[in-house]
Amino acid sequence: MFHDFDFKATLASSLRAQWDLDDVLRADQALDFSRNFMPESLARTGAVESLAAGEQRILNQISAHQYLSIFGIVEEFILPFVLDHARTILRDDDWRVRALLNFAGEEAKHIHLFSRFHDAFVRGFPVECRMIGPSEDIGAEVLRHDPLAVALVILLIEWMTQAHYLGSIRDDSGLDPLFKSLMLHHWKEEAQHAKLDTLIVEALAEGRSEEQIQKAIDEFLEIGMFLDEGLKAQAAFNLDALEEAIGRKLGDRDTIIAQQHQAARWTYLGSGMVHERFKATR
Ligand SMILES: [Fe+2]
Ligand SMILES: [Fe+2]
Repeated sequence: MFHDFDFKATLASSLRAQWDLDDVLRADQALDFSRNFMPESLARTGAVESLAAGEQRILNQISAHQYLSIFGIVEEFILPFVLDHARTILRDDDWRVRALLNFAGEEAKHIHLFSRFHDAFVRGFPVECRMIGPSEDIGAEVLRHDPLAVALVILLIEWMTQAHYLGSIRDDSGLDPLFKSLMLHHWKEEAQHAKLDTLIVEALAEGRSEEQIQKAIDEFLEIGMFLDEGLKAQAAFNLDALEEAIGRKLGDRDTIIAQQHQAARWTYLGSGMVHERFKATR
């Protein structure tokens, strides 16, 4: 397949795009809890009519807590995956190894970035937001699959980060600038990862029969459905946190959970992967 990128050129653009944690959020910085954190196109909290505006904002912030935690989880399985792949080619092309080690190093930095934002969130938010996990178990479940399937999931996530950044620009009606900056900086590096991951996918697919490729795609969908189950459970946890934060029980709780689960599917998996037709193949 023809690309206008290779390992050497992508490493060079990665090095140019690199930033430090403090460029995005210093450890002592506070988030602005009077604003929304997530773009409406992702959180869809403005669409929940039974909530007052202030309550919609709290749900938006809980959805941002979910964002930080979900990325914490996925970065934790991306890092070992990239290192394992780099390990198989150590004796070969030097540019590949350097590009992949840089990719892994950036993901390790992203784990710190999301955790720093998470700490700032916890400092400023009145109640505890429960998360699915533990992340090691989720990572182990994903990584037990065919590496080609895992690489496709990672590629999907990398492409989604561009949609997140574009959403934060397009829907900017007073979003917290630190969250906007998070989306921008994360995407800047993910855009390079998406190129490298495309090359990994091609390397892993090489020499496989059509049947073997189809089996990897089935596993890709299996991982997608596993993650989607997690998002469903998370939507219920988010509503628990909302009810605690606003001090009342919601009569339409199940409707909001279903709507927020849908929003999370779009945000983290894209609509195609969890299409009903794919679910029917289970
Ligand atoms: Fe990342
Ligand atoms: Fe990445």
